Amino acid sequence: MTQHSRSDDVERNRRVWAQFAPDYAVSGRRLWGQEPSWGIWGIPETEMHLLPDSLAGLDTLELGCGTGYVSAWMARAGARPVGLDPTPEQLDTARALQAEFGVEFPLVDASADDVPFPDESFDLVISEYGASIWSDPYLWVGEAARVLRPGGRLVFLGNGLLLMLCADVEGAAGRTLLRDGFGMHRFEWPDDNSVEFHLLHSEWFRLLKANGLEVTDLLELRPPADASATYDFVTLDWARRWPSEEVWKARKRA
Ligand SMILES: C[S@@+](CC[C@H](N)C(=O)[O-])C[C@H]1O[C@@H](n2cnc3c(N)ncnc32)[C@H](O)[C@@H]1O
Repeated sequence: MTQHSRSDDVERNRRVWAQFAPDYAVSGRRLWGQEPSWGIWGIPETEMHLLPDSLAGLDTLELGCGTGYVSAWMARAGARPVGLDPTPEQLDTARALQAEFGVEFPLVDASADDVPFPDESFDLVISEYGASIWSDPYLWVGEAARVLRPGGRLVFLGNGLLLMLCADVEGAAGRTLLRDGFGMHRFEWPDDNSVEFHLLHSEWFRLLKANGLEVTDLLELRPPADASATYDFVTLDWARRWPSEEVWKARKRA
């Protein structure tokens, strides 16, 4: 496996997320007030089962928590969450929503590629469109594995593989393969100078295994019957035909 070093990607994405923060405060507030549901199609947790059956007393870490709604859901279910994010403006929103909804948990200003916690501190590490797409997996997966306790779980959700191969320069999915699959890793978006990270499935398997994580499931998500499109990078018709989102579940070997 290739060695990858730190770069200015974290700073580039932090700047972009500072600009996105006001818009995400609106959807964040709505999601804080809802029952758990996942991804751009809002598939309910009752169908997805991304979280353990019981969260009571579990130490959880959300990598790229943004406005913090996933950690809030876990706190309400009895977990001890920590939300980590490198964008102060996103953490400001999370803090305001904590006060508004009366749910408090630690919020840490850090990047997923350099997690400021000791080894084996958490039972669950989770990311929904956070580190899962915005941080370099060759750096953050090792950190996630390090801070997980033996037997602990990693769950992350992001864009589907096929969608990324069909994404145009603005990230919108068409019906033509536009990008190489072999070697896929960094996706630079010229319009806002941000960088995303996506890998082939075989490379995810190798990377997780190399970090002591055993894949327990790979889910390819389909919008439910009542879904509507809320983002312009993929249409409902596209997502009904091909997987627009995927979830990886893994467990740290005991
Ligand atoms: C779409 S939000 C996901 C969070 C949450 N699910 C939400 O929608 O509010 C993406 C988040 O990833 C964060 N992010 C960007 N680079 C990151 C990095 N290197 N490590 C961890 N999080 C990062 C951004 O600051 C942003 O808050």
